[in-house]
Amino acid sequence: MSEQAAKGQGAGRLNLLHRPRRNRRSEWARRLVREHRLDVSDLIWPLFLIEGSGLQEPVPSMPGVFRYSVDLAVEAVAQAAALGIPAVALFPNIDPALRDERASQAHHPENLVCAACRAIKADVPEIGVITDVALDPYTSHGHDGLLEGDEIVNDATVAVLVAQALNQARAGADIIAPSDMMDGRIGAIRAALDAEGFEQVQIMAYAAKYASAFYGPFRDAIGTKKTLRGDKRSYQMDPANTNEALREVALDLEQGADMVMVKPGMPYLDIVRRVADEFGAPTFAYQVSGEYAMIMAAAQNGWLDGDRAMMESLLAFKRAGAKGVLTYFAPRAAEMLNRKIELL
Ligand code: PBG
Repeated sequence: MSEQAAKGQGAGRLNLLHRPRRNRRSEWARRLVREHRLDVSDLIWPLFLIEGSGLQEPVPSMPGVFRYSVDLAVEAVAQAAALGIPAVALFPNIDPALRDERASQAHHPENLVCAACRAIKADVPEIGVITDVALDPYTSHGHDGLLEGDEIVNDATVAVLVAQALNQARAGADIIAPSDMMDGRIGAIRAALDAEGFEQVQIMAYAAKYASAFYGPFRDAIGTKKTLRGDKRSYQMDPANTNEALREVALDLEQGADMVMVKPGMPYLDIVRRVADEFGAPTFAYQVSGEYAMIMAAAQNGWLDGDRAMMESLLAFKRAGAKGVLTYFAPRAAEMLNRKIELL
């Protein structure tokens, strides 16, 4: 090779009009042409609750994630608000003695979620509170609906979900988020909320929720792992399906959902893209417990750079068309974004 060619000039040079690498040569140029950006406003923080006070209990399968008693949950949420996180999503781990076949606690006015909701709305009114509508934290069998024989019964479950949603709205929930996948629940909940004067309460529908192995650590966190009888494939979606997701989203939007969600997140980015393109409705993705656990476990083993993997995975949701992401990384990511660290 001649000296000139070695310098990238002269005889060995390709006659290229287009050299895409020009736009990647420097940090400032990469920033200039970057198409998508993660923002603190894109983050929703799911957090776990337990009874008691002064408690912050680690979830073993989710390093860095805790179950908080209401008093400490309020403090954690205040910190999230200070970081600029727009909303939190609450998930309770209730005393097993309070769980029964009928999920009675789900619509008890003094239940853990309602207590947390009232306390957060009183102390941190500037943050949005999202409450989960589904019966799994409250049933003795760990299902999202009522069990009759081997069957999760749809319509009887919807009646309980409506009671649960109203109970949460009365406690001050801003967004009701049904994650149960029963048919017709969005319409029933919307009608009941409106009839009670809660027409301003929003609904974020877990519209395309798949029967996924990635929920494992979450079931640990809310204490349903050991109790869950069978699986959830008769109501959560088959991971093999795409068109069905569009039908589910269409139905939830027709029934009055203000926002829709795809769940899990990373393995389902194709669904996020199709839903976002097809409907143009605010579309969210849930980076679920198993996705979080995978990244954390690999990082703890020194197999990948956890912060980089976190930022890259979160940005991927934006690139796929999501308006925002529910992620256990929310506080960590918000801190970095506030320090203008993108790690790309
Ligand atoms: C159930 C519910 C699940 C999650 C949120 N709500 C799990 C399930 O369907 O068993 C999973 C969230 C996560 O894995 O982070 N209503």
